[in-house]
Amino acid sequence: MSVVASAGNGKITVPSILERKSGVPSQNSSPTKITCLTAYDYPTARLLDEAGVDILLVGDSLGMVVLGYESTLPVTMEEMLQCTRAVRRGTRHALLVADMPYGSYHDDPAEAVRHAIRFVKEAGAEAVKIEGGERRMELIARLVDAEIPVMGHIGLTPQSVNAFGGFRVQGKSEEAGEQLLRDARAVEAAGAFSIVLESIPRELAARITAKLKIPTIGIGAGPDCDGQVLVIHDLVGLSFGHKPKFARRYANVGEIISRAAAEYCRDVQQGIFPSDEESYHARVEQPAALIAQRK
Ligand code: KIV
Repeated sequence: MSVVASAGNGKITVPSILERKSGVPSQNSSPTKITCLTAYDYPTARLLDEAGVDILLVGDSLGMVVLGYESTLPVTMEEMLQCTRAVRRGTRHALLVADMPYGSYHDDPAEAVRHAIRFVKEAGAEAVKIEGGERRMELIARLVDAEIPVMGHIGLTPQSVNAFGGFRVQGKSEEAGEQLLRDARAVEAAGAFSIVLESIPRELAARITAKLKIPTIGIGAGPDCDGQVLVIHDLVGLSFGHKPKFARRYANVGEIISRAAAEYCRDVQQGIFPSDEESYHARVEQPAALIAQRK
């Protein structure tokens, strides 16, 4: 399966995402909004890719929605790499972005670059995402220098959950809003090709979107961003616990799985499953008595 970008094959690329910035003159007078969803496995990646999602993000949210951790902090490089490889195998058109997990870019910058290179070389990611604003400028520049496109992420950055004292909306005060605008500008100046704005007031997200030349991708940041991202498990009703108000549920797959599992248990217990049609049969020349004898 070729996933290498070439003109006209419908592959979403970093330059094609940059062209989708609102207000940028292009062949399209008003570019369509960028769609991004998380994916962590092969079948989901295939379905989302075939549905036309622009960006598949292997988010470290996998720690919470797939592995059942209480935060994203325990997620390891190996867990992220394994899921990124699976998503790679299911993705033809979408741009594949891998989240750098907590601890993989917080210490030695050279080690951070090595970790990012692993996502590209060993797992087929086309870009990485890192959390943080002004204080990540140098690292973003180093990654871009190493030919790795970077998606920034500011606002409610889940890897800062302990520093924030919980999962809380960010940038509500004027001062906090100004800091987030500085953070967004720093991420752009360092060379990122897009930036996630998470859980910030709509008005602030609109202001940041208007000030930046790179596309903003919102999650809980209102409708004025250049694109939107959601966690796939929230979208299809496969997540448990608190449901943030921005996480619109488009399907209830959780209920479908529960119902299917309960029906299966009932059918097995009542001897309805498997039926004779769902069973293999011995060759006709073998008499039933012989089969019984062999048991
Ligand atoms: O890990 C993740 O899924 C994310 C998105 C919610 C932006 O960072």
